[in-house]
Amino acid sequence: FEQIPLKVEINGAMQQLKIEPRVTLLDLLREQLNLTGTKKGCDYGQCGACTVHVDGQRVNACLTLAMTTDGCKVTTIEGLAEGGPEGKLHPMQEAFIKHDGFQCGYCTPGQIMSAVACIREGHAKNPDEIREYMSGNICRCGAYSNIVDAIMDVKQ
Ligand code: FES
Repeated sequence: FEQIPLKVEINGAMQQLKIEPRVTLLDLLREQLNLTGTKKGCDYGQCGACTVHVDGQRVNACLTLAMTTDGCKVTTIEGLAEGGPEGKLHPMQEAFIKHDGFQCGYCTPGQIMSAVACIREGHAKNPDEIREYMSGNICRCGAYSNIVDAIMDVKQ
């Protein structure tokens, strides 16, 4: 396949890449950039494990063609902590630890990226509103009530 240029800022670093037009943002992150914190669950928009932010909006990276992010700012779970991977955890990451908002942890990066967007977009007024906003993020371990508790804690 023919490769096309892509200029995108990922976790604060400008990337000049060559990609095939058919490549999803999820595969670009995981396969080409080795940012494997973003998970592939279903690969068709059903589970939320691949949630990242593009220009501050949450998206399913599996449903986003990488080429559509040209000129955008992408944030993944690796870019959430202040000062990078060795830096200080984001308050939402701290809250997930405090409230046991996970069990196996596979869905957690997507849950946390959605949770941050939930508060930022003003959809965390009460537990019902949080559950509605977070309904696209599936957790097979059933950590849902603790996830809601974590989000309620951070929004205080
Ligand atoms: Fe993207 Fe499931 S991997 S929604």
